Amino acid sequence: MATVRFDPAGALRGALRPPPDKSVSHRAALIAAMGEGETTIEGYLDAADTRSTLAAVEALGATVTRPASSPHLGSDAGRMDGPGLRVSGVGLRGASPAAVDVGNAGTLLRLLPGWLAGQETGSWTLDGDDSIRRRPVDRVAEPLRLMGARIEAREERLPPIKIEGAPLRGISYELPVASAQVKSCLLFAGLLAEGETRIAEPLPTRDHSERMLAAAGAEVERGDGVVTVRPASLLEPGEIVVPADFSSAAFFVVAALLVPGSEVSLTGVGLNPTRTGLLRILQRMGARIEVEEQGERGGEPGGRLRVRASELRGAEVGGEEIPLAIDELPLVALAACFAEGETTIRDAAELRRKESDRIETVSAALTALGAAVETSEDGMRIAGAGGLRGGAIDSHGDHRIAMLGAVAGLASREGVEVAGMDAAVVSYPGFEADLASLLHG
Ligand code: S3P
Repeated sequence: MATVRFDPAGALRGALRPPPDKSVSHRAALIAAMGEGETTIEGYLDAADTRSTLAAVEALGATVTRPASSPHLGSDAGRMDGPGLRVSGVGLRGASPAAVDVGNAGTLLRLLPGWLAGQETGSWTLDGDDSIRRRPVDRVAEPLRLMGARIEAREERLPPIKIEGAPLRGISYELPVASAQVKSCLLFAGLLAEGETRIAEPLPTRDHSERMLAAAGAEVERGDGVVTVRPASLLEPGEIVVPADFSSAAFFVVAALLVPGSEVSLTGVGLNPTRTGLLRILQRMGARIEVEEQGERGGEPGGRLRVRASELRGAEVGGEEIPLAIDELPLVALAACFAEGETTIRDAAELRRKESDRIETVSAALTALGAAVETSEDGMRIAGAGGLRGGAIDSHGDHRIAMLGAVAGLASREGVEVAGMDAAVVSYPGFEADLASLLHG
């Protein structure tokens, strides 16, 4: 486990293209594997989570051709430039039986059962690391069973899980929690079911699956909180383009806001409004962020963010904006420590079910650095103190907590030591190098 120290820094300056989007990359590999023929994926994320997805689709029978510039998908850059990754799909009904290791990837764990459950024959097991073994899967198993799926889970709700292919029927389902992973899983199953599948969301969540499936020829309709998918005989994704990850960009957005004198541009960033709730929250807190939209590529909007160091004030965060900023709420809490006044985050109980219990791990980290944080079942209250002292934190193996610690260190008075910094490889292998490039650029 690597311990890394991040000392108070001078201003962050310069431009950076963050690595490709993790969420979109997972979906690209899975949908390409379900497709007919070859799909080219431009800018597939080269990180631990998305390597797990490539290994999974290979285990299921798809052929993956890595670009010559990144033959082992092991470059430090965290991205694959030049010619894209190519995936030859097995078709919607052609997944081979396999034992799949999802590693640390919750998205893979929740999306894949939708596809596998609807195979005509075969059985599969899905398992992963210690963190994965604590992530609930009943949220996908229950609706899939209503569709006719045969799924068993440990203690009814945890991995490993076992799936046996079975005929599925379409259902009308109201998601009990706003979860893009569950929605996407049911969309995949709906492609293989008999009849239409309707999924109602309590609040809007990221819609990458809907966009990508529609582009591959699936009949997906969206309207008024309901997504409908019809059975498909084949998918033809052709080419998929992955934008830079807004959730990775978010670490630099907050670093630039908090370190005095900073001015940073982030380019090529995915600006899908179902992902960018953080911008609206930070702008309400007084952040100086300019958004330059540059149109859609591959069905996803993208553009440039320009961020300048800003004086922040506390805010109330909750309701509809929670799913749109779910992975960035730890950064809201960090920014809140530097603000004037109190910040309250509510309606975010889902944070307890991420790679770590992020209500506890964020509050433990910020408290260790000198902040006054009070937790509740569904959120936290942070007393803004205009800054953070610094100290030592543990990532608890959670990539976003590790990177949060790094940003906290640069903006703190005394620096931060992050135990378990290596967890960043889950979504952003080149994080430290990219951060350094803005410090010395
Ligand atoms: C994701 C959805 C979100 C998010 C996760 C990625 C996805 O999870 O937190 O990091 O790619 O669909 P939930 O669906 O559990 O909200």
